[in-house]
Amino acid sequence: MSIIIKSPREIALIKEAGKIVIDLFDILKENTVPGKSTWELAHLAGNFIRSQGAIPSCKDYEGYPGEICVSVNDTLVHGIPSKKIILKEGDIVSYDVLVTKNGYTADAARTYPVGKVSEEATKLMEVTEEAFFKGVSMVKPGNHIGDISNAIETYVKSFGYSLTEDFAGHGVGREVHEDPFIPNVGKPHIGPRICKGMTIAIEPMVNLGKKDVKILDDGWTTKTIDGKICSHYENTVVVTDDGYEIITLKEGENRH
Ligand code: MF3
Ligand code: CO
Repeated sequence: MSIIIKSPREIALIKEAGKIVIDLFDILKENTVPGKSTWELAHLAGNFIRSQGAIPSCKDYEGYPGEICVSVNDTLVHGIPSKKIILKEGDIVSYDVLVTKNGYTADAARTYPVGKVSEEATKLMEVTEEAFFKGVSMVKPGNHIGDISNAIETYVKSFGYSLTEDFAGHGVGREVHEDPFIPNVGKPHIGPRICKGMTIAIEPMVNLGKKDVKILDDGWTTKTIDGKICSHYENTVVVTDDGYEIITLKEGENRH
């Protein structure tokens, strides 16, 4: 595979999908309360996405059974929605969503607290979000993908947190996963050059403890081996003439 540069028309279509993602996160945030099951939340998301004339593309992606991924506490990614997983005060929940409209896909993730959470959890979520912004600040034509990776790694590791090397960001748009591969760790000035018209998902996944993760017997649910909490934050980004545009982020939500 090679990197797909999108036309202005294609970018407009990816932005349409991105708008649905933005509204979806408002709904999920409001519903992240004690007593809800991750199945209910995923179903709420699926229904909303379909009501917008779009498809929740996590469903059936390489056999994944949920409409979105819902990952609680020590689950890093790909948690499978379940009626048995009920949110409780103090949990943190990551939602990873894929929305496809008219054949074009936007990909994003957020981690939200359930009620009041520990200071440790709050800090982890803040650093994960900020790591995205450190990474995206390197996005401009002429820079390298490694510049994004290095900015994320340097920032996250300065807090003593760790980053999995088993999952990474990626191109997105026509397909869910396109080139380039965008690791959350790496050296600057290496990897493909960033070009105008690329559409990429940048997604720091940060562990409070060690970086090691395991996949459960269901083939998807990915947990930290040390059982410590972890956090995920992702946006779809378009490379412009002189920088970037984040298309899955609500106006005003961007603190930068
Ligand atoms: N959104 C995920 C990503 O960033 C992909 C989810 S794969 C699924 O790569 F199968 F779980 F949906
Ligand atoms: Co992604």
